Amino acid sequence: MSRIADRIASSPKKNYGMHARAARLPNQHELIHMELGQPAHDTPQHIKAATIAAITAGQVHYSELSGILPLREALAHKLRTVNGIEATAADVLVTNGLTHGSFAAFFAVVNAGDEVILLDPAYPQHISKIELAGGRVVAAPLDAANGFSIRAEWIEAKITPRTKAVVLVNPSNPTGRVYRQEELLALAGLAIRHDLIVIADEVYEYNVYEHRHISIASLPGMAHRTISLYAFTKSYAMDGWRLGYATASADLLGAMLTVTANDVTHVNTFVQHGALAAITGDPSALEQMVADERIKRDFLVDALNRMPGVICARSEGSIYAFPDIRGTGIDSQTLANRLLEEAKIVVESGAFYGAAGEGHLRICFGSQTLPVIREAVRRLDHFFKTAA
Ligand SMILES: Cc1ncc(COP(=O)(O)O)c(C=O)c1O
Repeated sequence: MSRIADRIASSPKKNYGMHARAARLPNQHELIHMELGQPAHDTPQHIKAATIAAITAGQVHYSELSGILPLREALAHKLRTVNGIEATAADVLVTNGLTHGSFAAFFAVVNAGDEVILLDPAYPQHISKIELAGGRVVAAPLDAANGFSIRAEWIEAKITPRTKAVVLVNPSNPTGRVYRQEELLALAGLAIRHDLIVIADEVYEYNVYEHRHISIASLPGMAHRTISLYAFTKSYAMDGWRLGYATASADLLGAMLTVTANDVTHVNTFVQHGALAAITGDPSALEQMVADERIKRDFLVDALNRMPGVICARSEGSIYAFPDIRGTGIDSQTLANRLLEEAKIVVESGAFYGAAGEGHLRICFGSQTLPVIREAVRRLDHFFKTAA
């Protein structure tokens, strides 16, 4: 008898892409890291202060399983006013980052053999959770020729009697697209016709520079079939805090609570007080961070478009540029490897995100300050002019 459970033993090893490859190199100090979506900003001071105050005041004991009531009330207000989702505190579950929210969502809805559709190129960390839950990932391509937009008929072609859910990351990681209302209505129409659940990862909801972010759960007929997932991670630069939240209909959220109550009980009590300060406090720090990201995006995208063989659309949202590098004649994985070895820049290959991502690189502008991005651009420029 194997000591390891079959679901773990048979699950593919998690692939950390260029980050893992870079970690094996000597001279780590030479590397410029633009592969991970780790915010360059510090967490705003008032959030830290509220957390420290909560510890000092003795907020160190168990809280309600779904999260402290004042936080869930504040999050429900935010969901109603910002996302157009009719939530009350009872409809909110506080999670350990979006990662934990998506884990709970997949474990709450996916049966062994169920199919879950991801839009390709896709955020790969959703794949292993679906597979751990016993599900099968089915990739449906986005329309690369049209800014990686949703083509509902391409998604519909992947639906079978086993299809249970579709995952939507909006704004998209890695493509940076902010999906338009007509694309979301088309996807919603599919979900309604085929009775599917939509798992909406909206971790970049505030990292929006063009168009307006629309939560698919706010569209007609979608509230009871959408699990909407959020986090403080990117918008408030709180990635290490592990803080997120979910909203869904009572049956789905109740099933997710069964998962979270069993794995972590609840999120750290005093950390939830920091979250409350984030959501109710002065929004100017958040606005300033988004304004900074826009400046970095413009600088990087404009510079990439001046490099031979590179064409880069202006990311509409997220913290990533997704340049088309087909003009270099080099495949994306070889190019990412060569950039690491020859230019000491860590970026991710488009192929890492699925077949539809080939021909692109993903470069995170949110993870570095403008001076570091300037140096990265200098190295990239030299590489594309001389080596590629
Ligand atoms: C699309 C997407 N979802 C989820 C996450 C993870 O979020 P968290 O750190 O809140 O778990 C990331 C982080 O890069 C992401 O890009």
